[in-house]
Amino acid sequence: METLECIKTRRSVRKFKDQPIPREVMEQVVAAAAWAPSWKNTQTARYIVLENRELIEKLADDCVIGFKYNTVTLKAAAAVVIMTCVTGRCGYERDGSFSTPKGDRWEMFDAGIAAQTFCLAAHELGLGTVIMGVFDENKVNEVIGIPEGQSVSALIAVGYPEGEAAAPARKTVEQLLSFK
Ligand SMILES: Cc1cc2nc3c(=O)[nH]c(=O)nc-3n(C[C@H](O)[C@H](O)[C@H](O)COP(=O)(O)O)c2cc1C
Repeated sequence: METLECIKTRRSVRKFKDQPIPREVMEQVVAAAAWAPSWKNTQTARYIVLENRELIEKLADDCVIGFKYNTVTLKAAAAVVIMTCVTGRCGYERDGSFSTPKGDRWEMFDAGIAAQTFCLAAHELGLGTVIMGVFDENKVNEVIGIPEGQSVSALIAVGYPEGEAAAPARKTVEQLLSFK
C-alpha cells in the first residue's frame, strides 16, 4: 500500500472478526512501530499484548470508567495492546531536569507517534485498530500489572475488521493550514 493511501484509509475499527492474530503478525507491527521517531531516540514506547480472554474481559468490565462503548469494543477485539511508556526520559536532560518548558509532556507526544505508526503498520497488514484514551490507569495496573517505571499511554484494540468502518469527516486544508 502507498503511504498516503494507508494514512487516508486507516480507520478506527470497533468491530472485529472472531479470528486470532498470529504472533508473527503482531511482531511485524511492533517492528514497524519501533521506527517511530522519539525524543533523543529514547524509544520509550512498550507494547503489552493481551490475548487472554479472561484478562480482556476484566479490562473491558473494570477499567474503562463506565464507558460502555469501550467495553463492547474491547470484548470484540482479538487482542488488546496496553501501550506503555518508560517514564522519566522523554523531555528530560541527563541530570533529571526538564529540557523545555513542556516538561514531561513529550512522553505523550512520543506515545502518540508510536501509536499512529503501530496503527498504520497494522492497517497495512490487514488488521483493524482503535486507540482508546478512556480508561483508568490505576485500574489497568490493578488488573494487568504494569512494569515498574512505566505508565499506560493508551489501549489499542486490535483484530481483523468486520465490515467497513465509516470515515468521520475531516476539516479542510483551508481550516488547518496557514502560512506567514
Ligand atoms: C488519543 C485518542 C483517544 C481515543 N479514545 C477513544 C476511545 O476511548 N474510544 C473510542 O472508541 N475511540 C477513541 N479514539 C478514536 C477516535 O474517536 C477516532 O480516531 C476519531 O473519531 C477519528 O476516526 P478515525 O480514526 O476512523 O479516522 C481515540 C483516538 C485518539 C487519537
